[in-house]
This record gives sequence, C-alpha cells and structure tokens, in this order.
Amino acid sequence: ACGFRFRVFSDGKRCSTSKVVRKPEVLPESKRQGTCQRKTFVQEQADRLEQANNSILIKCPQKVNQHQLLKSLERHGNIAHYHFFEPFVDGQLEGLVQHMQLTEEDIRLRFLVCSLLQDLCTAILPSVQIQPFGSSVNLFGRVGCDLDMFLDLGNLNIERKRTRVQRDSSLEFQVKMFRCERVATQTILSVVGNLLQHISPSFDSIQKVLNARCPVLRFCHSPSNLNCDLTASNRIALCMSETLNAFAQVDARVRPLVFAIRCWARAQNLTSTVSGAWITNFSLTLLVLFFLQQCSPSVIPTISHLRKLADRIDHRVIDSVNCTIVSDLSKITPSNNKQSLEDLLHGFFDFYGSFPFQKKSINIRTGQVQRRSDDSPMEIINPFEENLNVSKNVNKRQLLHFVELSQNASLKLEKQHQLSSNQSWGLMTLLQHGPTQQARATDGAASIHPTPKVERFTDLFHSLWSTKQGNPEAK
Ligand code: CTP
Ligand code: MG
Repeated sequence: ACGFRFRVFSDGKRCSTSKVVRKPEVLPESKRQGTCQRKTFVQEQADRLEQANNSILIKCPQKVNQHQLLKSLERHGNIAHYHFFEPFVDGQLEGLVQHMQLTEEDIRLRFLVCSLLQDLCTAILPSVQIQPFGSSVNLFGRVGCDLDMFLDLGNLNIERKRTRVQRDSSLEFQVKMFRCERVATQTILSVVGNLLQHISPSFDSIQKVLNARCPVLRFCHSPSNLNCDLTASNRIALCMSETLNAFAQVDARVRPLVFAIRCWARAQNLTSTVSGAWITNFSLTLLVLFFLQQCSPSVIPTISHLRKLADRIDHRVIDSVNCTIVSDLSKITPSNNKQSLEDLLHGFFDFYGSFPFQKKSINIRTGQVQRRSDDSPMEIINPFEENLNVSKNVNKRQLLHFVELSQNASLKLEKQHQLSSNQSWGLMTLLQHGPTQQARATDGAASIHPTPKVERFTDLFHSLWSTKQGNPEAK
C-alpha cells in the first residue's frame, strides 16, 4: 500500500470516460429538519461503499505539482473531493511532528517566562537580558520540554565603566569585580536563586547546581508549569541553538526524523528527564544530523559549509570561538537526495547499529568521522568547542544498549516490509518496549523513574492505523 498518494472522489460512477455526471445532493431527512441523528451502522456501511465505488486512487510521482494534476484530471470530469496523502511511514513521521511540536502558544509562554524573570533580575542587574535557547527555540522542542534560559551578563567590568561614564543615568549601577567569569556566573545565579526563593511566589522548587561545568539554576515556573534551567555565560550554546534551527529548516525531512528518533529513544528508555550516564536528546539530535550528512548525496550540509556561505554581518567570535554561520538560509542549495523518510529512518538504525564507536568520533562541523581523542565510550565532538565531547556522560552499558536497540529497530523495519498484514505497523512497532528495556535499571536514577509515557504515542499511532484501515477518506 505504500506509495499511494492521491485519492479523487467524483460524484458519478468511477469510470475511465471523460464524462462524469454530478448527482444532485439529496440531504437526509434528519438534516433537512435540522435534527442531528446518527447514521445507523448499516447506513454508514452503505454510504461508505457507495463512496468507494465513486472513488479512484492514483499513485503520483513524488514531486508532482498538485494544482496542475487536479487541473488535468478535471478535464475528465467533476471532482467532488480530493485528498493527497503521503506513503504511510512518511505520513506517520510528519504526523508525529504535528502532534508533538511546540505550539505557537507554548513558544509565546516560554518567551513570557524569560521576560518575567528578566523583570525580576533587573532589580539587581539593570541591563541583564534573559533569552531562551535549546529545544524551546531550535525547532526540535516537543510539548513539555524544559525551558533553557540564558542570562546574558555582558561583560560586568565593561558594564561598570560604562555606567560610570553615563552621568545622565538616574541610577548609578556598580557591581564588584569578580575574580573570573565562572565565579561571576556562580555568584549571580546564586543571588537570582535567592531572589526567586524569597521574593517571587511564581517560581518554586529552586535548586542551585553551581559546581557543574556549566553552573545552572533549576526551578519550576508554577503558573505555566514549565521546568526551567537558567545558565549564564553560555552564549556559545545560544549559537548552537541557532545552528540546529538552521538545520531544521534546510530540509523538510530533518525535523520528522529527529522527532522520531527522540520519541523512539524515550519509548525504549534510552533517554530520561534526569541527567545521568545515558544519551541526551541533544546528543541524539547531533547523531541524526551527522547521519544525514553521511547520506549520498548528503541531505544537509556541514557547519563548515554554513560558515563559508556566511556574510560579513554573520561573523561572530565568542570567547575566541568562531561561531559564524550563514543567517540567510536561502543561500543554501537544496539537497539532491530524494530518499523517503522511511528509508532515512531505516538508514539511521543501520548506520549506528554498526558504527565503530570505539575507534571513531563524530563531528558535524566537518561532516566526517575522525580518530578518537578521549577514552570515553562515545565521542560526539562539540562543533564549536572541539575540545568538548557532548556525549562524555554516556557509559559503556548505555552505548551498547543504544547500538543493540538500533540493530533491533533496523531488523523490525526490515521485517515490516516483508509482512503484508502487520497490526503493529510502522513507527508504532519501534515504540514498543524492546526486550532489553530494563537493562539500564542499574544505572542509577533510571531505576526510580516511572516508565515513559508511550501511551500517548501508542494512541496516536493506533488512530493513524485505524484511519488507514477503516476510513481512508478521513486522511
Ligand atoms: N548544549 C551544549 N552542549 C551540551 C549540552 C547542551 O551545547 N553538552 C546546549 C545545546 O544547544 C542544547 C542546549 O544546550 O540544545 C540545551 O540542552 P538540553 O536541555 O540538554 O537539550 P535540548 O536540546 O534543550 O533538549 P531537551 O528537549 O531534552 O531539553
Ligand atoms: Mg532543554
């Protein structure tokens, strides 16, 4: 059934002649009287069968112009309804994005929380700016993801000089000199934490994680129910979000694939809402991007290429790190790769099911594998700070689990092609727990975690499945 993409419903009999007679629409008695009576089962069956008799199904080439196709078909008769639909897996993955992505309201709410927090912080740091980064803005965020915020302190010493010079300012603002940026970050986050804890009733469950490599303040904004992470001096991560956002836009297949892999990993207990020795969503995203760079031809360019296309105004160096990428995405040539999402999904699992993680590391800046530079089980090089390994936290057990589950997923997709009437079909198959799902229970926090809520996705895919089976018109 894969590949049927277009359905036309004419009002006349299905025929190959050019004349299709339009039947006058006769309203049922209940509708004419303004009452709303449900059809009986027998009526529904009869109507559906008649509808099917008057329908034709056309398989179109991938890049067909829908408007032109309709015009050409209309030369042969009236078209009462038409529906375009994609091959099943592709449709499922796109459906997944529609179902899980952040809505317009979600995004607005996230910026609003930043603005509220900024209002609070300006009491102690008048020119501070707070903005979201991470999955809230990189186009890979799903409903309920955490809100990563970046508190931009600017350069405190410069700030001090500037405010001294500006004598017209009504408030003279000074801060103490800090020994180094890390101490400044820790101190400011600690003070902001106290502010939230003691002053604002909207923020609760405040946790200061100040000794981490990247000090962070964790809290919940209760009115919006958002879990928030506030960092400072983290401008490179903001550039990373811009880069991921660019990749999400350069090819329409990137987002569905990343969402599917993140969803699969969550359902298989590979990822968790707490940090630990397991792979993170960010690492998974980089794995998907790297795989898409390896396809032939590649689906997305490398970061080096995005840098080559950059204009002078795009030039950005932060803490001696070159974070330049092109901002005008229309300069990027679309990929010639025509693989379907289903192929790419399968390709991802094949690729990582046999990737030599012991010897090679992954770098999306160059789009090439390279020799390992550290001794952790998995190495994904941070594309901007190349001395950092994004997946340093992943232990051997978790890596093996990821590889094994990738191999299983690849086998399942392979089998799916061979079975004609498989009830647990498509992405649904991948969301079921694998036999090794409990393997990570000994890795700490995972054991005290509730099982992931795959039910929501299960319901979604059951409904997609029944739509295909019982009511193709609804698609
Ligand atoms: N980041 C980074 N290096 C890391 C971890 C994170 O540069 N080792 C940056 C990335 O830009 C990432 C952001 O910090 O997008 C936020 O990290 P995190 O919340 O872990 O990932 P998200 O992409 O926001 O994914 P999630 O939906 O799981 O929160
Ligand atoms: Mg996040």
